Amino acid sequence: MKHSYEIEICLGSSCFSRGNKDVVQLIRDYLKKNHLDDKVFFRGARCLGNCSEGPFVIINGKVFEKIDVRDMERVLDKELADLIRIS
Ligand code: FES
Repeated sequence: MKHSYEIEICLGSSCFSRGNKDVVQLIRDYLKKNHLDDKVFFRGARCLGNCSEGPFVIINGKVFEKIDVRDMERVLDKELADLIRIS
């Protein structure tokens, strides 16, 4: 099955140590809580080569820079709103 939603998170050492370590867990929990595990393809990426603007999360090709756990839930609510409504 092809997922229509994709979340990619940079797990390069800079992004990972500056917050994505916790953001990964938050996204996993969020997808589980909203029963979206099988609707969203969630994967880790290697360093995107632009560490100073990180940590990065990419949702359906849209790049979010300097993300942290505090913004992430709000971003997910907004970006996945249609999916949550129909699931
Ligand atoms: S570690 Fe994320 S851009 Fe380099």
